[in-house]
Amino acid sequence: MRLPNILQFIAVAAPLLLAGGLCADDEFEREPILYSASTPENRISRLQQRLDDGEMTLTHQGEKSYLPALLKALDIPAESQMLVFSKTSLQMRRISPRTPRALYFNDDVYVGFCQSGDVLEISAVDAQLGTVFYTLDQRKKEKPQFERRSDNCLVCHSSSRTEGVPGHLVRSLYVDAGGQPMLSAGSRMVDHTTPIEQRWGGWYVTGTHGSQKHLGNLVVRGRDVEEPVDNSAGQNVKELKDRLNVDRYVSPHSDIVALMVLEHQVLVHNRLVKAGFDTRQALDYDVMMNRTLENPEGTRLESTTRRIMSTGDRLVEALLLVNEAKLTEPVKGTSGYAEQFSTVGPHDPQGRSLRDLDLTTRLFKYPCSYLIYSEAFDGLPAESRDYVWRRLFDILSGHDQSEKFAHLSKDDRQAILDILRATKSNLPDYYEVIPEATTAALNAE
Ligand code: HEC
Repeated sequence: MRLPNILQFIAVAAPLLLAGGLCADDEFEREPILYSASTPENRISRLQQRLDDGEMTLTHQGEKSYLPALLKALDIPAESQMLVFSKTSLQMRRISPRTPRALYFNDDVYVGFCQSGDVLEISAVDAQLGTVFYTLDQRKKEKPQFERRSDNCLVCHSSSRTEGVPGHLVRSLYVDAGGQPMLSAGSRMVDHTTPIEQRWGGWYVTGTHGSQKHLGNLVVRGRDVEEPVDNSAGQNVKELKDRLNVDRYVSPHSDIVALMVLEHQVLVHNRLVKAGFDTRQALDYDVMMNRTLENPEGTRLESTTRRIMSTGDRLVEALLLVNEAKLTEPVKGTSGYAEQFSTVGPHDPQGRSLRDLDLTTRLFKYPCSYLIYSEAFDGLPAESRDYVWRRLFDILSGHDQSEKFAHLSKDDRQAILDILRATKSNLPDYYEVIPEATTAALNAE
């Protein structure tokens, strides 16, 4: 390295490194992501366009406001409804055990509704910007307008709890009769690895699950949480009408299967955003360093390769449900969400789908996330996507036999490969042929 180059290197890199260390949280506000300054492209921005063009309208419906029409416009099933009664989110003064907040979701958009709320809260998966937040005024308007929101949502929706990127949250904690979280008794983030017994504190849960215990439907009376907590009245609850006025919502359920799918999906979404952002930032840094150091274009720093691999590995683990909490007895919902979710497909010629649910020992019959079909997955930078496809192939073809993936039997791996081959577009070529070595490895097991 010639001397002026070193000086230039220090001049360019030092502020970046410093800034990265001091306020890593909003690194996504700078090049190349430019989170708040960039124009979003997702289900909500497209819906707004259709409203603006007069191609469709949203009907306002009394106390439920735009909720029923919005769910319909976004193809979000009412069966996905989940009710959360902890005062842990934006409109906390509206939320209590008698007036829970309702959440709804499909593969690429989430909606939150509070009784007498000011706004509907929405988050949309955006292939470039990760997770984009909006509100929709609940009052009847001539032209309903989604407002893009950043700061006031990111306070909670971008932290170490969401991989440091704008993302989604699911928490479990003890809640008192007013809906206040009792944080001294602890709180945890929830995803598909969280044991069932620690899930759903602060949420209503409808569904049956045998003798497996959870913290749902529990309102703590008194000042302190006395362990072990007796939540026998909260188990295997099928109806909520004694606990709240369910007519105020679009469904009377807070479905256990919807909750389990949400918890899986949120983890995968956050890791997708993280892998996408990290890869783009690392590649951008490469370009700058190559220019500064007069390296040939396309020279890859070792740190870039490492960053792509490590966020890719974490994504692969989420996609393949590594460390998923085990079910010990069958789980069954009340709203019909499970049936609705599975019907969507796509199915292979044998009728199998990544959306087939097991619900006896684990969530999915074939543990590979259906989000592999999502725009967010296809929108990953090629470098990250290629790496993830390679790793998935290593594991599914049986080459990678590491302990981490031991939950995937030989049959599971084969079934997932077959389903992907039959249903996933743009699959890398090497998925199509089964090299002899692979067959041998599978047979040798
Ligand atoms: C005070 C913290 C806080 C703020 C501020 C906040 N949220 Fe949330 N949000 C949460 C928490 C915690 C959850 C998880 C469910 C719960 O506890 O209500 C959540 C859940 C959601 C969900 C369901 C998907 C998910 O992540 O689980 C949506 C949609 C959502 N918020 C939208 C918004 C929007 C839009 C804004 C800004 C206008 C916002 N939130 C501001 C804390 C917050």
